Parts: sequence; structure tokens; C-alpha cells
Amino acid sequence: MKRVDDFRLKLGDRDYVPIMIGGMGVDISTSELALEAARLGGIGHISDAMVHDVSDRKFDTTFVKDKTRTYKFNINNLNKAVVQFDMDRLAEATINHVRSTMEAKRGDGLVFVNCMEKLTMNAPRETLRTRLSAALDGGIDGITLSAGLHLGSFGLIADHPRFRDAKLGIIVSSARALQLFLRKNARLDRLPDYVIVEGPLAGGHLGFGMDWAEYDLHTIMDEVHAFLRAEQLAIPVVAAGGIFTGTDAVGFLEQGAGGVQVATRFTITHECGLPVDVKQEYLKATEDDIIVNGISPTGYPMRMLRNTPAIGSGIRPGCESYGYLLDANGNCAYIDAYNREVLAHPDQKTVVVMDKTCLCTHMRNFNCWTCGHYTYRLKDTTHRKADGTYQLLSAEHVFKDYQFSVGNQIALPPREEQA
Ligand SMILES: Cc1cc2nc3c(=O)[nH]c(=O)nc-3n(C[C@H](O)[C@H](O)[C@H](O)COP(=O)(O)O)c2cc1C
Repeated sequence: MKRVDDFRLKLGDRDYVPIMIGGMGVDISTSELALEAARLGGIGHISDAMVHDVSDRKFDTTFVKDKTRTYKFNINNLNKAVVQFDMDRLAEATINHVRSTMEAKRGDGLVFVNCMEKLTMNAPRETLRTRLSAALDGGIDGITLSAGLHLGSFGLIADHPRFRDAKLGIIVSSARALQLFLRKNARLDRLPDYVIVEGPLAGGHLGFGMDWAEYDLHTIMDEVHAFLRAEQLAIPVVAAGGIFTGTDAVGFLEQGAGGVQVATRFTITHECGLPVDVKQEYLKATEDDIIVNGISPTGYPMRMLRNTPAIGSGIRPGCESYGYLLDANGNCAYIDAYNREVLAHPDQKTVVVMDKTCLCTHMRNFNCWTCGHYTYRLKDTTHRKADGTYQLLSAEHVFKDYQFSVGNQIALPPREEQA
């Protein structure tokens, strides 16, 4: 019976344990989590989502406070076009986060950064170019472009000295999206080093419509493999979304995947950035508690826990402090939804906004509990303690369970109470 450790993910002239821990913003996939994956010979991701805030928390910088002060005058203005990011500060925050992570790296694995392109930041091209260049300057091993994949992104950093040496990958949810990306980038003579195919059971935003349940990751993987074979391209393909056991992973590796990307099982590890009480919410969840809805202003469906505090919250848009989802014209779907409710209820002090949420503020405060489809199975991966709470795991335990388990088994950790 094969196990994940019988396979290797080959990138360039090196190979790795074929397990990637996926990027989870905002700082849910912390440096500590990513570094564990690298130490164990696999690949971890940090995320550059809301990187100013991440830097402020980790390094006592004051990027968010300073931006809030600069744009305070605009807080009651519906038009947010004036709220711009300073490129030098964006680069500085990114380098702080990336460099400190890379300096702490041990072992044979790699650390990548997950860059969600839907963070359009009121100036999509300039901010993305700055984020990508700064991550390369900070010494990141690789960049995974995700959520809202912009077909011209590689071109933004084509003149960077590390453009050909760093690993560059993309996340797609269909062979068609991959085809479009490759066609658009053909003139750069620079293929992605890996392609992550994210199926409909993943956490975070989904690359599908509300008909996500009609898709199946194995089928999409077959389509992607067939497309690459037809094009005679040998790009490693990494399967992601709903891979819950080592045996699930082996199923994809035997189908031809170069590796797997997993995330949900790591949300209840000590190294994961979610607050401890939120980890317990993930552990308590039942299948009925996992929902997919349209409240993200990005326009993509998003999976989350039913009792997510962000749902229905009518807080004032936080764009003067954050503004990561503002499009090129300073718009965000939450601003419209919020203003509609304020106009409809002029006498109310607080409003309820059901159809959209202020994703920046709520992700920043860990109040948008996005999660993978199989979150309801997390309770089966650990022990329930005498006080009714669940024991958290180490990232090493979960990583090794994926790497070495067979027969759909999940290794439970040693009981803390006995340890
Ligand atoms: C809590 C959480 C947050 C996530 N955030 C992001 C993100 O910021 N960017 C991204 O590209 N994918 C994100 N994802 C998707 C994961 O990186 C990964 O591809 C996917 O969840 C793998 O499926 P699994 O969770 O079933 O293992 C997130 C997933 C979870 C569970």
C-alpha cells in the first residue's frame, strides 16, 4: 500500500515531500506554520494579505495607524478613490514579513508566499507589481498567484533579477483557466514552475460559481493532465481542496499529481494564526455548519462556518485603514451594500448588512471563519478533553500523518492529559 512519502514533488533540479500547506490569509498560515512545512521537507506558504497589519503585529511598525491618520478626513465620504497605498510602505511591510520568515528557515523544504490578486488595493497593477517584487527582494523561495488570477502578472516582474530563479506558480480551478494563462504568457518564455488545481471543496474563495457542488477535483485533474499532455508540457500539477487523509493524497499522486496542497487540517494546529477560541469553533462544527455564500465583496463564493460573526455585521467600511479590496476606481461591493442599508434605515444607529461583508476588517479580526468543506471532520483528528474542548495538534503531527498514513487512517496525537 503506497503512502505519500513514496512520492516526491520535483521542482527544478530538487525534489520535496509532495505536501504543500496552502496560503491562508490574513496570517492564518503564519510564518511558524510555513516554516514547519519547510523544516519537514515540504513546502509552506505565508500570505501577503493585509501585510501592513501583519507587519504591525509582528514588528511593532505603525503602517495601519499612519494610513488611518492620513485618510481620516475621508471616513464619511462614500468615494474612496483618494485612499491610496504608498508603494514604498507596501514594499517595506512585505519585506519585513518575508525576510524575517526566510531568515528563520531550516531544513530542505521551501517557503512560498500566496498572493491573492483580488486584493486590488485601489491600484491593481502597481500594488501587485510592488508586492511581487518585494517578496522576491525579501528572498522568498516562490510565489503562488491566486484568487482573481491576472493573466499578465508574470509580465509585471519579468525584469526582476529573480524572475527566472524563484519558483512561480498559479492556482486555477479548470484546464481552461490554465490554457488562458499560458497563452497570455507565451511571449515571456517563462512557464509556471507548478500549477495548483483547486477543486470545489477548498477553504477561502472558490474558483467556481454557486454550482460548485457539481464539480469534482479528480475530473478537473484529468482534464488538466490531458491538456498538458496535448501541449507537451511537463509542469507539475498539485491537487488541492478536500484532501483530508494521506490516502486521499495518494489517490491524486497515483493519478499523476506532482503533489497536494492542504490547509484545513492545519487550522487546528498550534502554529496556525487563528485565535484559540476560533480553532475550537472549527473543531465543534458539524456538516450543517459549513456553508458557501456570496458575502465576499470579491464576487467569488466563499466557504465559511454558519456562525461566522462577519455575516450580517453592518460595520462602517474600514477602507481608510485597510482598503485591500478597493478596485481601480475606489469601489468595493460592501460599500454599496452598507450605504444602501444606511439610507434605508436613517434612524438606526447600527445596520444589518446580509448580502456582503467588510472582508478586510473581519478577516483582520479573525471574524470571518472561512474553512474547507471537511472542517466538520476535524474533531475526528484529535481528542476531546474532560472540559469539553478539543486538544490542538502540532503542525508536525498533521504533516507526518499526511506523509506516512495508510488505509485512510488518521493518527491521533498523544493525549495531552497523559503527556
Ligand atoms: C482558513 C483558510 C483560509 C484560506 N485562505 C486562502 C487564501 O488567503 N488564499 C488562497 O489562495 N487560498 C486560501 N485558502 C485555500 C487553501 O490555501 C487551500 O488551497 C485549500 O483550502 C486546500 O483544501 P483543504 O483546506 O480542504 O485542505 C484558505 C483555506 C482555508 C482553510
